[in-house]
Amino acid sequence: MKIDIITVLPELLESPLNHSIMKRAQDKGLLNVKTYNLRQWAVNKYGQVDDYQYGGGAGMVMMCEPLANAIDTLQKDTKYDEIIYLTPDGITFNQKIANALSLKENLLLICGHYKGIDERIRQQYVTMEISIGDYVLSGGELAAAVLVDAVGRLLPGVLNDETSALFDSFQDDLLAPPVYTRPADFRGLKVPEVLLNGNPKIIDEWRYEQSVERTRNRRPDMLDKPDVLDKA
Ligand code: ADE
Repeated sequence: MKIDIITVLPELLESPLNHSIMKRAQDKGLLNVKTYNLRQWAVNKYGQVDDYQYGGGAGMVMMCEPLANAIDTLQKDTKYDEIIYLTPDGITFNQKIANALSLKENLLLICGHYKGIDERIRQQYVTMEISIGDYVLSGGELAAAVLVDAVGRLLPGVLNDETSALFDSFQDDLLAPPVYTRPADFRGLKVPEVLLNGNPKIIDEWRYEQSVERTRNRRPDMLDKPDVLDKA
């Protein structure tokens, strides 16, 4: 899968995308993430990519021209399945959207700054608008990193058995069960006996019950959907 990212702050994306599982995904050739500095397409020699908003008001708006030229240039080489603008007024990102995006070949992400991007770019180019939650970040870069990580780890071959996404929270519409490692007794706090007795079927049942209980306690809204508890 290829993910291109248009940003004014490529440095912000470097670290999260070049460590751990995202690094491995790229080293294995399963994921190809490239950042493009929007200032390459600036309207003048000062690197201008934003301007005052019409109608007045505080905050700059990212201009049409640099963004349109950047997207047109990148589209010459790649047919994008989705052109995604990261914005707090987009649809809220979740595991379902991550799963759906992980099946695509080519994505283009646009990171906004200041007051956001000119509405005409949203109308003319953007096919999907995604928010990573109901709060406002200083720019779309951290949101883009979240999206790339959540999608990238789902690509076949990226995770091994130990890190398998199959038992993640949300993957079955349930939160993940509690996990334990050595020692079996930590300051008198014991690992549940069932995990020590080595019977895989009973352990699976226990984990499922714990998942349901944790979901009921913490996210009862997730159990409102039909079928969630029919999968056992
Ligand atoms: N840009 C600023 N805030 C954002 C958010 N919550 N999600 C996605 N992009 C953003």
